[in-house]
Amino acid sequence: EAAEKGGYEHFMLKEIYEQPKAIKDTMGCRISEDGSHVQFEELNWTTEDVTSIGKIMITACGTAYHAGLLAKYFIEKLARIPVEVDIASEYRYRNPLTDSKTLCIVISQSGETIDTLAALKEAKRLGARSLAITNVVGSSISREADQVAYTWAGPEIAVASTKAYTTQLVTLLLLALYMGRLNGTLTADEESRILHDLTAVPDVCRKIFDCADEIKAMCSSFEGKEDVFFIGRSMDYGLAMEGALKLKEISYIHAESYAGGELKHGTLSLIEEGVPVIALATQKDVEEKMISNIKEVKARDAYVIGVVQEGDTEVRKTVDTLITVPASDNFVVPIMAIIPLQLLSYYIAVSRGNDVDKPRNLAKSVTVE
Ligand code: G6P
Repeated sequence: EAAEKGGYEHFMLKEIYEQPKAIKDTMGCRISEDGSHVQFEELNWTTEDVTSIGKIMITACGTAYHAGLLAKYFIEKLARIPVEVDIASEYRYRNPLTDSKTLCIVISQSGETIDTLAALKEAKRLGARSLAITNVVGSSISREADQVAYTWAGPEIAVASTKAYTTQLVTLLLLALYMGRLNGTLTADEESRILHDLTAVPDVCRKIFDCADEIKAMCSSFEGKEDVFFIGRSMDYGLAMEGALKLKEISYIHAESYAGGELKHGTLSLIEEGVPVIALATQKDVEEKMISNIKEVKARDAYVIGVVQEGDTEVRKTVDTLITVPASDNFVVPIMAIIPLQLLSYYIAVSRGNDVDKPRNLAKSVTVE
């Protein structure tokens, strides 16, 4: 097993560090050589294949569900197709409004999660077209779906998902760009501009690893803390949900994620002196609003860790400490911004002496209901 860990103390850490390669492999030949456009050969859709979609229904569990939440922003903003995202175990039992004009996208690292597989079968029964995004070739979900787009993350062993998540985001962003071009909502310039930043990710995200020691040192702020809040707006809200899940899964600290604007409707009552708040503020279009939310929790003496893009000048004035991620397009930055949160959760879990790769009560793949 030590050999399989390739010198890392845990599979999770190894898999975090494998992300640059996993992301590169997932982009692979899905981007034209000149970097100008997406070419999804395995899908080979026509304009009609996209314009005939009335609605997209995304369903998944756990971390894959969180990838789906971000995909809603990607697809609705870039391809202007309405997207619903539902937890697979909810979708199945709610008599969903799905028909032949629905494209059902299921996301699953393992391709074996029973609730996701059952949701896919239900969508098909109702007449939907289906597309699976999965990491395991030949898995049950890949066989059941009409079409498959694989994430090329390689085997993921640690229970807490890391590289599967970032490669799901890459695949979903490529899909959104592909659909946006086919249905004419996206300009060629916008597509190549986003792709320019996306193709840079495998190299520039390594800068985050240079800050690993700083992130590790932040663990001391979590000593003795049993409640942590993650806040964010827009795509950072989806990211906040995944950040909180990572922390809960392996550190066993209670973590909640909130949309910045929702704080005042309840959660603010839980903020008191020294409560750690991780404020995701990478999305430029909502930065000013996020700063107001940070001020709201600072006024209650929370300890705020801000996550910003390189070059930030404003958020840093309002927080206690800062995590910086490489500057990039708004759609691309979440793919990088989750990495420091994965590292932070990892180091906190290690500092608590937890079994990081096999957290209590959890399984890598849930094949029972
Ligand atoms: C389990 C794992 C999670 C994972 C979820 C969905 O709960 O512990 O990490 O996100 O299943 O798994 P899937 O293989 O369908 O992505």
